[in-house]
Amino acid sequence: MDKTVKREIITTSDGSTTIHFPELNEQYHSKHGAINEAKHVFLKSGYNQVITTNTQRELSVLEIGFGTGLNAFITFLEAQKNNQKVNYVGVEAYPVSIEEQKHLNYVEVLSADEYQSVFDNLHEVPWEIPTDISSIFSLTKRKQFFREITDQNCFDLVYFDAFGARVQPELWTEEVFEKMYNALRCNGVLVTYAAKGSVRRAMQAVGFNVERLPGPPGKREMLRATKIK
Ligand SMILES: C[S@@+](CC[C@H](N)C(=O)[O-])C[C@H]1O[C@@H](n2cnc3c(N)ncnc32)[C@H](O)[C@@H]1O
Repeated sequence: MDKTVKREIITTSDGSTTIHFPELNEQYHSKHGAINEAKHVFLKSGYNQVITTNTQRELSVLEIGFGTGLNAFITFLEAQKNNQKVNYVGVEAYPVSIEEQKHLNYVEVLSADEYQSVFDNLHEVPWEIPTDISSIFSLTKRKQFFREITDQNCFDLVYFDAFGARVQPELWTEEVFEKMYNALRCNGVLVTYAAKGSVRRAMQAVGFNVERLPGPPGKREMLRATKIK
């Protein structure tokens, strides 16, 4: 979604803020709680599941839509807790502005004051250059369109956090999921908040094994897709 569409900051049910597009009735996160949704979909159903089966020392994560940096931040906090090395790549074509960033209250709502500088750093580090955020967490932000992704067999986990199919149907297609499939290593996992039948079928068509899992607050289901060969 380019920057010509009207944007505003709203507060979601768990007290965390997000960016809302009033004309499209769409936002970066669920109105039922941005942090609650991110923790449920990406940490609980993705990261936590993958680290239990991942025997490698470092976990490589690809985020589809770096946006506000919320997913990167909660992954950083979790990695610090369990001393897990993470190589995190965030793809984003339309970075949030510094003005918007100031209104993101994730550090406060997560009671993570000691990591305020880390959250700021996630936004301030240069694009395209792998940067150590801490001794265990490396971040590479790539200013890139999703259609330009050509990675092969190098990620353990994909956070698929594009805008919904209602507003960006072109991002929920076999063509895009094939890119995700190719980017993952064998046994790699993709998680997304979406649960639509057409999305599940597009994932299955490119070879994913797809599970329907309980969704975050306000959503019955979500999807987890595994590259089984
Ligand atoms: C639903 S938001 C979620 C962002 C992020 N995961 C977060 O938690 O803030 C989707 C993101 O995808 C980005 N985006 C939309 N279309 C894109 C495209 N075709 N290529 C790259 N980025 C895109 C948007 O700018 C936005 O930051």
